[in-house]
Amino acid sequence: MHIVVFASRKGGSGKTTLAGHLAVEAERKGAGPVALIDVDPQGSLSDWWNMRQEETPIFVSTTLARLAENVETLRTSGIKLLVIDTPPSLSKIVAEVIRLSDLVVIPTRPSPHDLRSIGATVELVEQLNKPLVFVLNSATQRARVTAESIKLLSQHGTLAPSIMHQRVDFAASMIDGRTVMELQGSKRASREVGELWEYLNQRLTGAARRPVLPALPKAVEAKRSESETSLSGAA
Ligand SMILES: Nc1ncnc2c1ncn2[C@@H]1O[C@H](COP(=O)(O)OP(=O)(O)OP(=O)(O)O)[C@@H](O)[C@H]1O
Ligand SMILES: [Mg+2]
Repeated sequence: MHIVVFASRKGGSGKTTLAGHLAVEAERKGAGPVALIDVDPQGSLSDWWNMRQEETPIFVSTTLARLAENVETLRTSGIKLLVIDTPPSLSKIVAEVIRLSDLVVIPTRPSPHDLRSIGATVELVEQLNKPLVFVLNSATQRARVTAESIKLLSQHGTLAPSIMHQRVDFAASMIDGRTVMELQGSKRASREVGELWEYLNQRLTGAARRPVLPALPKAVEAKRSESETSLSGAA
């Protein structure tokens, strides 16, 4: 069983949105059975799951005291992927789930505030010696700040090559327990989720050891070769 944790101290970066979408996508692509755990007291992921009509992925309630035992039960009961959503903090339970994880996904919006705040999360993941991957979420196409964010994140670790753009469908689909893949006419957003899952699955199964770089606008591309050496960090 692989364990993927979505973590970021920054509120609203997309942890819950991406955790739900990735869990559903993994199940759709045959990587299941998939289980979800929400250790955020806000309970956004569990609220979403309670609205959901589909029976998969399954949802498991837990506490800090029962976490390790519950994870072991999932492992022995044949769950192939466990996706864990966390609160916007670096609390004890966040450290605990990171300790159990195979991969930590840190979603970040392309804004100076978001980018400045990822350091503390990265530090915690590195202290616990776990691989991490950044996902740029809610990006605006062709915006300068998107290109700058890609450059900056690439210099600090591994950035998933699939950028998640700002699309109202991501928010709208989750209102009634669905995902963009389950909406009619949400092809672009669905494609982004598909590409992100493909990349994360490769990371989990060891098929992509080398960092994969996202497509950059030409102006940034020229700069990339300068930062190439720092890219191997979290791969
Ligand atoms: N790519 C996107 N396009 C449009 N809206 C998005 C996108 N990603 C997230 N959102 C919206 O942004 C808000 C915050 O997202 P989400 O709840 O997933 O963040 P979070 O990191 O889990 O927040 P918190 O730290 O409070 O738990 C939600 O309203 C969500 O619907
Ligand atoms: Mg959340």
